[in-house]
Parts: sequence; C-alpha cells; structure tokens
Amino acid sequence: MKTVRLSPPPELTMPIGEAMFTQRATRRLDPDKPITDETIKVILDAATKAPNGGNAQPLRFLVIRSSEKITEFGKLYHEAWWAKRKDQFGWSVDEEVPEDSPYRMAAILASELGNAPVVVLAFTREGVSGASVFPAIQNLLLAARSLGIGSVLTLLHPVVMSRVYEMFSIPGDAELHCCIPLGYPRGNFGPTSRFETSDITYWDTWGSPPPWLEES
Ligand SMILES: Cc1cc2nc3c(=O)[nH]c(=O)nc-3n(C[C@H](O)[C@H](O)[C@H](O)COP(=O)(O)O)c2cc1C
Repeated sequence: MKTVRLSPPPELTMPIGEAMFTQRATRRLDPDKPITDETIKVILDAATKAPNGGNAQPLRFLVIRSSEKITEFGKLYHEAWWAKRKDQFGWSVDEEVPEDSPYRMAAILASELGNAPVVVLAFTREGVSGASVFPAIQNLLLAARSLGIGSVLTLLHPVVMSRVYEMFSIPGDAELHCCIPLGYPRGNFGPTSRFETSDITYWDTWGSPPPWLEES
C-alpha cells in the first residue's frame, strides 16, 4: 500500500493537555447533529499517526455511516452488552444494575448506540496484538475530543460476532478489537476521576514512592 506524509490538520487546534485531560467516555450522543465525512477523515488520519509494531500498520477501520446499518448494529450491540453483564454479574435488565454503578451509563449507551451518528469498528488480521491497535484508538479518541466530538471505547461479546461479520461482509480472518460510537455530546464532557499518580507509581525499586510523594 502507498504511504503518505500528512501534515497536522488545521482543525486540531486544542492544546494536547486540554484534549487529554477532558477526554472521557461520552455515551449520550446527539443523533441529530451529523458528523461530516471530512471530520471523520481528520479523526482517522490522527489515528494512523500512532505508534505500531515495526510500522506494519495492521489496523483497518470499518466506518458505519448508514443510519439503517447503525440501527441494525445497535440491536446487536444491545444484545452483546447485556450478554457481557449476564456473564459478569448475572444482570439481564436495567433494574438489576445498582443505582450507583458506572454500568448505569453504559446501559444507556447499550440502548442508544443505534442512534449514534457514526460507529467505527477497528480490526487487524487475526492474531495481531492489540498493542499495535490501541495507541491509534487513543489518538482517535483525542482527535474526536479536540473537535468537540464524544466517543467511547467499547468491546463486543462473542455471542453477536458472527452476525456482525455477516452484516458488514467482514472476512473471517479479520479480528475485531473494539467498537467506538462517535457523536456530538448531549451535555458537556464533564470531569473524570482517577487514582493519584503517586499511588500507582514506584521509583527505581518496586514499592518505593516517587519523589513528589515524599515532597508533599
Ligand atoms: C477495554 C475497554 C472496554 C470498555 N468497554 C466499555 C463498554 O463496553 N461500554 C461502555 O460504555 N464503556 C466501555 N469502556 C469505557 C470505560 O468504561 C471508560 O473508559 C472508563 O469508565 C473511564 O471513563 P471516563 O474517562 O469517562 O472517566 C471501555 C473502556 C475500555 C478501555
């Protein structure tokens, strides 16, 4: 395949710190605010710039644009999401998801994914490590954020896989790594919370704290 040397798209002006620190899982997407094909290309171009083993560039995208296809895919996503929750927690219906569970929002996405303006599926050939996939996906999420577009990285349950492959004529030797709905958010991006870096970082020796913990 031919390679190209892309310059940074002029649309991506958000400071990298702002993009990283405000990017988050956005599950309430506006079905009535379309994303242009040009914008999708900017997001995918950013994804292609990510590190990957030996620059072999194994990633392939399937962009689902047709609203009919997204509606159909949404039904499978809903089935897959609940199949995963059944495996994990034995839940089958909304009422079984605890009020304070982060899965409440994910359940909303499971019901609404069929209304997303765009869904991106990320593939490699079978057996290629996700280590050559997820740096690109992170670029994709950050580029989307910088354009004001919400996204969320999701996985599918095997129960729907053969039907997904059939729906989009995906060859059997392609391996699906993740599914990312995209859309302008209903609401704002909101804050995220994470563990303190000093609680998850050791310095020179496993168990030794980083200097900023000793200083504080
Ligand atoms: C491997 C992986 C699988 C995920 N699967 C789902 C999923 O199936 N459904 C969903 O709504 N979010 C999914 N997420 C999104 C996470 O729930 C989200 O990144 C995490 O809760 C942090 O959210 P925040 O950035 O908004 O704080 C997944 C994220 C990763 C990295």
